[in-house]
Amino acid sequence: MADAPKIAFAPFATPTKGVLVVFMDGELRLGTATGKLLGRNHDLVARAASAEKFTGKLGAVLDFLAPAGLQAGRLIVIGSGTETPDFVKLGGTVMGKIPAGAAEADVLLDLPAGTVKPDQAADFALGLTLRAYAFERYKTKRKEGEEKRGKQRLTLGVADVAASRKAWGRREAVHGGIVLARDLVNEPPNVLHPEEFARRAASLKKLGVSVQVLDEAAMRKLGMRALLAVGQGSARESRVVVMRLNRGKSGTAPVGFVGKGVCFDTGGISIKPAANMEDMKGDMAGAACVVGLMQALATRKAAVNAVGVIGLVENMPDGKAQRPGDIVTSMSGQTIEIVNTDAEGRLVLADLLWYVKSRFKPKFMIDLATLTGAILVALGQEHAGLFTNDDRLAERLLQAGNATGERVWRLPLGPEYDKMIDSKFADVKNTGGRHAGSITAAQFLQRFVDKTPWAHLDIAGTGFASTQSDINASWASGWGVRLLDRLVADHYEK
Ligand code: BES
Ligand code: MN
Ligand code: ZN
Repeated sequence: MADAPKIAFAPFATPTKGVLVVFMDGELRLGTATGKLLGRNHDLVARAASAEKFTGKLGAVLDFLAPAGLQAGRLIVIGSGTETPDFVKLGGTVMGKIPAGAAEADVLLDLPAGTVKPDQAADFALGLTLRAYAFERYKTKRKEGEEKRGKQRLTLGVADVAASRKAWGRREAVHGGIVLARDLVNEPPNVLHPEEFARRAASLKKLGVSVQVLDEAAMRKLGMRALLAVGQGSARESRVVVMRLNRGKSGTAPVGFVGKGVCFDTGGISIKPAANMEDMKGDMAGAACVVGLMQALATRKAAVNAVGVIGLVENMPDGKAQRPGDIVTSMSGQTIEIVNTDAEGRLVLADLLWYVKSRFKPKFMIDLATLTGAILVALGQEHAGLFTNDDRLAERLLQAGNATGERVWRLPLGPEYDKMIDSKFADVKNTGGRHAGSITAAQFLQRFVDKTPWAHLDIAGTGFASTQSDINASWASGWGVRLLDRLVADHYEK
């Protein structure tokens, strides 16, 4: 939660202080404006490139202190490679090279290969700001020489200032949503319990989102017994939050987003081993994404009717906790045999999906959940698992994934998997054994969506503990906000 850098756009000009960042491509060419502005430093850069064997490879760096004839205190040359770069990533890479202590930096977004378009400039700014994110709320000390990133002012030199600024306005809203999602996932579980999470989600009211918080009595009345069963071993009460944004054509069905919000997952009576259990504070990453997405859509005034619903619970072992062998009746009326209390996410989602489909009759619903360790085995941290009953929705999600870099990989559903989750005592059981763990989880969810077009994103691999990436130096990724914002922007705004 380091202060987000302040982004400004300006015509190409040489700065009078701070850090100057310019680009050199894979053929060691500078952009025209850059060449002019560097003046006689052009030659210095060329000689340094040859001495350092700098080839202009994407992300490579040449660093000059106090370059003669420039008023900037530091000149950083970044390789822009030989192909059109991913501008979000490039922004992240550049932010990684700007010293934390620099109060001001100027980046000349002038690539030799051609003019940087306003959308690309905005993507670049998004990468810069995402990389600058740090969660430091609970740090009271700092190591020797470790510098805190203060409020930095970053000026991007661009060809079209007005259009770049406008494009950034939309991206900035998305940035805010990602930061909110990351903050929620990074927060410790003693602070961010279900009630506190609900309170934070309720802050979207100030953006024109209508927010309704269901307490346990309200859930009981609705018959959400599967969700309530997960939370019954916790000293903290469960909550469901319903967020609605109505900026689309009046009377048209909303798009629906559903998030797993297990604020801490001990496994319950089927308790998890101690190693890395602390990561289970992030078992609410799906819910965090839904809240971040709703904030992004509201802030950029997206012309869409959208509903976001999150189920907030804590899965604890206790005298009141549910047991393996218990049978609960879900809101849909279907009975579920609890075989493993650690397969709790699907119980929460079963009631939420049924609730959203029956109350809102959405165009589609997409759930996000850190649902199975098995998805990490299958896909690692590079793709989220995609399961869906709708080929068009699959196509659109795959496309949005490729466009944003938040990629998804489709895995199968099918009636052949049903026998793995059929129960001897109830309609369905909550685990299907070791084989195809992510698929049987999704197959379970499908029993609670009826005919509604639906997609399930298993984000257990992408939601947190991301190996440091170009655009994230933090633990939580905020994964999914960009993907779903893009899906809405491309297909569901009027
Ligand atoms: N929250 C976990 C899944 C998880 C694991 C998320 C690792 C992120 C990282 C989920 O509730 C869970 O415990 N799933 C079980 C299911 C099993 C009992 C069928 C699992 O994956 O082992
Ligand atoms: Mn679990
Ligand atoms: Zn879980």
